Amino acid sequence: MAKHLARVAKTANGAGLSRWIRNLSSVASPSAKTMDSTSSIDLEGEYTMPKMLTEVPGPRSRQLFLELSDIQNCGSVNFFGDYKLSKGNYIVDVDGNIILDFFMQIASISLGYNHPALLEVLRNKENAEVFVNRPALGMFPPGDYPQRLRQALLSIAPQEMTQVYTMGCGSCGNEFAFKLIWAWYMSVKRHGNPPTVQELESCINNQAPGSPPLSVLSFKGSMHGRTMAAMNCTHSRWQVKLDNPGLDWPIAKWPELKYPLEEFVAENQAEEEACLATVEELIADHTKSGRNVAAILVEPVQAEGGDHHASPAFFRGLQQITEKYGMAFMVDEVQTGLGATGKLWCHEHWDLPTPPDVVSFGKKMGLGGFFYKDKLRIKEAGRIFNTWVGDPAKVLLLETVVKVIQEQNLIEHCRNTGEVLQEGIKDLEKRFPGQICNARGLATFAAADMKDTETRDGTIRELRNRGIQIGHCGPTSLRFRPSLIAQPKHIHIFLDGLERLLTEQRQ
Ligand SMILES: Cc1ncc(COP(=O)(O)O)c(C=O)c1O
Repeated sequence: MAKHLARVAKTANGAGLSRWIRNLSSVASPSAKTMDSTSSIDLEGEYTMPKMLTEVPGPRSRQLFLELSDIQNCGSVNFFGDYKLSKGNYIVDVDGNIILDFFMQIASISLGYNHPALLEVLRNKENAEVFVNRPALGMFPPGDYPQRLRQALLSIAPQEMTQVYTMGCGSCGNEFAFKLIWAWYMSVKRHGNPPTVQELESCINNQAPGSPPLSVLSFKGSMHGRTMAAMNCTHSRWQVKLDNPGLDWPIAKWPELKYPLEEFVAENQAEEEACLATVEELIADHTKSGRNVAAILVEPVQAEGGDHHASPAFFRGLQQITEKYGMAFMVDEVQTGLGATGKLWCHEHWDLPTPPDVVSFGKKMGLGGFFYKDKLRIKEAGRIFNTWVGDPAKVLLLETVVKVIQEQNLIEHCRNTGEVLQEGIKDLEKRFPGQICNARGLATFAAADMKDTETRDGTIRELRNRGIQIGHCGPTSLRFRPSLIAQPKHIHIFLDGLERLLTEQRQ
């Protein structure tokens, strides 16, 4: 690792950077094991530093933007990528700019770009038919599918979760998980009896009793997707919601915690207890008016909404409420799942007495879906169903991702790398008061705030022009989502870039 740092220092030749390097030995103190695994994480041919030829978007991106604009509104496009040349932690754009990527396609790339183990899956001719033929898995799954699901998914399933469905994206996984929960909820109400003829007929026309007024409780600021029901549980951005009919489902207040969490324990606890009380009140109100709430749905860290954290006690409190009222406790790990928080599943940080009932996934897993406990299993066929019910090609790739994570001990690696990242941001917070604040995170899943939206957006733009891509979330937050293979050397390049920019912004 020292060799990498020396290389970074030599190329960057920055005073700030040297301090990061000095700090590293005291901050990260990586074990010998991590140092070994870190060197094996290095991707051959990965770029050593960002290299900028143009501002971003460059001329080629601008041209392509015009072309794409003819076909669709592409106002959200940042730049066009060259995915042949992108490698590891670096994305290359169509103008040849080499950019350190700490946003990773909205937190959805686990092993960086063009990881050799994943390329190998494609090169292996044995796998050709998996990519060429996309079966309707609900009707004609391939013979090796049970085994594939076990290897790729059940091997990493949260405890006590023996059941899984795959879907396309995170929204779709959530959408179908709600259907599963409602089916379970009503089956409990029917005491396990089959639905009545009246129920079967009325549901076709969206009428009760077959279409009961059930709901899912979600939190202000949350993001659970863009499809109809998932959108109803999303409260982070108007772009997801405007002009779509909204359902009257309970929306609870999310605790507004003060950071650093360890300095505001008592205040934060009081805030969380008040929020838990409002959750119970909302459930009581809705139930009283005949609109039963079948589940509490929660993100372990409210990501899109602004990287808002809550304590393990808060989540344990939510689970207790679901148990008290016969509801399901559903955790949306679309963004937090697969290791970046320092645990395979973020809810493992909470010390729950029993695991959640449903855990949904997406992003880094390469496909959407959800794990769930046996008790929620549906009796009737065809209720959790669509044409593809996932994609075996994505399951095949996930199998390799999981293997690499295990072989390279990437979750421990993330914890160590995350320490460097978080200490670094906290240090910047101390040295640039008023400019950056509320440094927070779990392992490499991290964020910090700036004073207002304009400054935050300008900072992201300017960092990108200097070869560092990060994300935004909420109104004022900088969102850091490096891949699982990011190393301290990448963190230092990022911290150095941010420090230089903050120094200039101060002048
Ligand atoms: C926590 C969470 N759930 C669900 C979704 C929706 O996933 P997708 O965009 O894959 O539909 C997102 C997307 O950002 C998310 O962050």
